[in-house]
Amino acid sequence: MSVATESAPDRLTFTPQELLESGSYEEPLIAGGVRCHGGFDSTGAYRSPRMVHRGPAIDAWKSQLARDGHGLIEISKALMPPQYPNVDQAKLLLRNGVRDPIVRALTIISIVEGFGAVIRDVKVPDLGEWVVESVEGTALAHLDKGLFEAHARDESGYREEGGHKQMWEAARDTALENPKIPGDVLMRMMGGGGGGQRGKAERPFPQLDPTLERMLTMMARVCIVEVFAEGTFDWGERVLSDGEVSAAPDAAGGMVRNIRADENPHVEYLRTGLSEMRARTIRTVDGKTIAGETVIDGLLHGMLHEMTRSRPRDQREDLRESLGEAMKVASNPKALLEEFDALESVWTPPETTGFEPSTEAA
Ligand SMILES: [Fe+2]
Ligand SMILES: [Fe+2]
Repeated sequence: MSVATESAPDRLTFTPQELLESGSYEEPLIAGGVRCHGGFDSTGAYRSPRMVHRGPAIDAWKSQLARDGHGLIEISKALMPPQYPNVDQAKLLLRNGVRDPIVRALTIISIVEGFGAVIRDVKVPDLGEWVVESVEGTALAHLDKGLFEAHARDESGYREEGGHKQMWEAARDTALENPKIPGDVLMRMMGGGGGGQRGKAERPFPQLDPTLERMLTMMARVCIVEVFAEGTFDWGERVLSDGEVSAAPDAAGGMVRNIRADENPHVEYLRTGLSEMRARTIRTVDGKTIAGETVIDGLLHGMLHEMTRSRPRDQREDLRESLGEAMKVASNPKALLEEFDALESVWTPPETTGFEPSTEAA
């Protein structure tokens, strides 16, 4: 468990306007001709958007959690499945003129970023009704008072200002010189088999208020996705900043670095909020209570177990489906495929997810 070591915080309550406040920049961030969020200070360093109060607020809530003797959830990097194709495989493809799979992967990233806007539609129930202890002055109390909205704006942009969706598109288009985007990316994402687990909608904690359960499930899922994205974004930065395969190693690599900086508050407010809930007691619909720890650990454990297995498999299957076709542009597709396969990373998901869910019959 890691804990922030900030100076004693004095403020724990913020207005939505404050949590959305970006301050001013010396120079704006322009990506692919689109004015984006964030900007550069007088030293030329990139500064993430909406962080004037959001950053100190998250630090303050984390410090409070530590002062109260509660742990902060840490999702181990060891659980992060590797990207498929890996960095060496991606560079091999690009060196051989096989761009389609990489263009596809980068386009999927930009689309997923845009989907991040749905976080603003997550309903927050009356926490005073369902949580035994007070949530005043916590991240939980600010979810629908600026935190979800700031997150949504970071991912998909806001009004005329671009967000991560536009920034990834710009990185892709400068590095790979405005490649042709396969027309079926979105369609294949939507139609992807996905193992059918989505349709079942089994409730892991049916004794909870459905709105609360949905919110916690969404927060846990997005938190894991954000942690895992770290590996994907590292992949993107390493591929796009290599001058051998990228036409704009500095600009494209720098753009991905800016995006990565913006992701930090997403992971931090989510794991802080989940940890705050973990430290509390939740009321059930039948008038009993259940430990927050049981619920939060149960949700995270279940999702981590599933995602560490399904994600690498889905990603690999998806790529292999069109790899043969894409490789036809290479001078010797057969030799290229052999070389590609020889570079494959071997990875097995860790046996345990690092969370031991307690079993409590409510
Ligand atoms: Fe993002
Ligand atoms: Fe994010």
